Amino acid sequence: MVSERAPLLPQFQQDGYSTSKCWRTSTKKGGFLLVICACFGLLALWSGASSPDGSSTSSQTKATLTINDAKLNFLVIGDWGREGSYNQSLVASQMGKVGKQLDIQFVVSTGDNFYDTGLDNVSDPAFTSSFTDIYTDPSLQTTWYAVLGNHDYMGNVLAQLSDDLVSRDPRWFCRRAFQLNFAICNATLAGSCNATLALFFLDTNPFIDEYWLPTNISKFDWRGLLPRTEQLQSQLDELTEAVKSSSATWKIVVAHHTIRSVGVHGDSIELVQKLLPILEEHGVDVYINGHDHILQHIKRPECAVHLFTSGGGSKSYAGLKAYTEEQGVQFVQDGQGFLAVSARPDSILFTFHDVFGDPVYNFLLQK
Ligand SMILES: *[C@@H]1O[C@H](CO)[C@@H](O)[C@H](O)[C@H]1NC(C)=O
Ligand SMILES: *[C@@H]1O[C@H](CO)[C@@H](O)[C@H](O)[C@H]1NC(C)=O
Ligand SMILES: *[C@@H]1O[C@H](CO)[C@@H](O)[C@H](O)[C@H]1NC(C)=O
Ligand SMILES: *[C@@H]1O[C@H](CO)[C@@H](O)[C@H](O)[C@H]1NC(C)=O
Ligand SMILES: *[C@@H]1O[C@H](CO)[C@@H](O)[C@H](O)[C@H]1NC(C)=O
Repeated sequence: MVSERAPLLPQFQQDGYSTSKCWRTSTKKGGFLLVICACFGLLALWSGASSPDGSSTSSQTKATLTINDAKLNFLVIGDWGREGSYNQSLVASQMGKVGKQLDIQFVVSTGDNFYDTGLDNVSDPAFTSSFTDIYTDPSLQTTWYAVLGNHDYMGNVLAQLSDDLVSRDPRWFCRRAFQLNFAICNATLAGSCNATLALFFLDTNPFIDEYWLPTNISKFDWRGLLPRTEQLQSQLDELTEAVKSSSATWKIVVAHHTIRSVGVHGDSIELVQKLLPILEEHGVDVYINGHDHILQHIKRPECAVHLFTSGGGSKSYAGLKAYTEEQGVQFVQDGQGFLAVSARPDSILFTFHDVFGDPVYNFLLQK
């Protein structure tokens, strides 16, 4: 563990974002770009190189995959690795059933993969007892694209990012930030690949100021992410470039922390301020996260981005905060479960399944 004292980020005034459509106190128009420029003016002072060990988005782009039957199905699970306890195994078996029904192409993990403190090393038995031995259904024997959560950072992060784990279980694919591109082709309409979907995976841990407090900083394995300000800037730059240059029909960003939530963790103000404006500006349709151990869909009328929380992989029932109608909560459930995503050329269906595997919420996004 490193104990280097990284500088805290400047605290932005909430009013500084009052012109963003995604910021609830919005009244004025036309100042959004100015605000962005002001922030990037600040951030530019921290500009630096990207990390050699997985924090670069662009260098981690996988080849475009072509889906030939005009449907791309995957499951999203978060906050899970507890050696089967807290209903992890039950959720896993329900994922297996739904995964089979949907004939899924892959699984996405929103982080907090191994409790309580990530993995200790590449031979840590928790990798087997919390992953390989739990998600055993044949339909789940496909690639797991994972990001890191705060609990993963409390262990040996480089172990969790290591390809040595792939030799233990070939499903494992974990990076700090990367991008996947899919072309969705309808085989009955020969050559018709008129829809594309891009998934952008991001590491939100370095954004959260609390983790960098002098009292907390040594609890986390920040190797590869120092100095903080430079790494954060390079992640923001790379994500901005990636979402901006993408011409995908559908753009989905995946990370661990909530942007907005009525779960116990609530909003991540750092992400509302630094990440949400980028998503809004560059036409990101959906942001999917974990962190709160709930199933949740938030969509505020003034903000185009849909926010889904899928953090019900094991321990739940921490409670919900009181909320008002203007917070845009379309659905929330405190309990275990997972999200199924079915992308078609002209729509994406999001379905939350509970601990019994039952579909408890459907949302169809159309273009
Ligand atoms: C593929 O195209 C055929 C012919 O137009 C149509 O019937 C079918 O619904 C399409 N499949 C999907 C998944 O959109
Ligand atoms: C596990 O799920 C059952 C419902 O099947 C629920 O009654 C129980 O409280 C859950 N246990 C935990 C530890 O969350
Ligand atoms: C790896 O971590 C596990 C779990 O903490 C521990 O039991 C084991 O001794 C470690 N192995 C090595 C080689 O350090
Ligand atoms: C960070 O420190 C504060 C107090 O300094 C504490 O309340 C909080 O739980 C700590 N957070 C983490 C993630 O360790
Ligand atoms: C793709 O083509 C299909 C069939 O012609 C059409 O139904 C669908 O709306 C198109 N989707 C997009 C995103 O253009």
